[in-house]
Amino acid sequence: MNKKPIGIFDSGVGGSSIWKEIHKLLPNEHTIYLADSKFAPYGPKGSKKIKELSIKNVELLLSKECKVIVVACNTATTNAIAYLRGHYDIPFVGIEPAIKPAALNSKTKIVGVLATKGTLSSALFHKTASLYGHDILKIEQEGEGIVELIESGNLYSVEMTRLLKNYLEPMIKANIDYLVLGCTHYSYLIPILKDLLPKHIRIIDSGQSVARQVKSILQTNHLINFQFTPGRNKFFTNGNPEVLTSLLGNHFNVDFLDF
Ligand code: DGL
Repeated sequence: MNKKPIGIFDSGVGGSSIWKEIHKLLPNEHTIYLADSKFAPYGPKGSKKIKELSIKNVELLLSKECKVIVVACNTATTNAIAYLRGHYDIPFVGIEPAIKPAALNSKTKIVGVLATKGTLSSALFHKTASLYGHDILKIEQEGEGIVELIESGNLYSVEMTRLLKNYLEPMIKANIDYLVLGCTHYSYLIPILKDLLPKHIRIIDSGQSVARQVKSILQTNHLINFQFTPGRNKFFTNGNPEVLTSLLGNHFNVDFLDF
């Protein structure tokens, strides 16, 4: 069982930012990554549809004998992980906007959250936000259009800069000192965000903590692969393989698969 792969899925290419952290921490593990780009973005789709799509991805990863599944998508985690955990006998690791560290460390007690509509409107996000963020002011912003630009290979574009300036302006005016990135696609925006944000505003991205959580789940369940050679990494997309290949630095093959 411990030689089986770690399965990872996202609504598209964004979860590859999480895959990178997992691969850095656990280089000898085999991995399978699914980019459901044909159905991206999940954000505007509504909870029922997001659940259906998540089940489809999980079934495919299970057919490839994954030992643990990482839901590398805030939107799928906040809308579907409770269902998935209740219906499949395999460990799941998810990702949610990291309100807690932002709330604990903020000096201005004003924190920005950039996430999808599906995440911001979910019951799980509201629960986490009221648990850890009750004594701070949260400026929530839906990142409409960002996922679409990244999925179409237009990460560095005039349109992206325009959208981000619009989304960040109210947060900067409100005096945030932390910006929480609540979507795995947004990790790829960090270089652009650093240019657009005043230097004192810290960006919080949860990729590394998800990777640590994956390691801890593997340890607890005795699922660590103790081989001494690098793991095999397979990437599948039902969209344009070139977009994912380029985000992976052209170091890996991405196969098209119609799922
Ligand atoms: N990467 C997904 C997330 O973390 C993007 C969601 C979407 O497709 O709208 O939420």
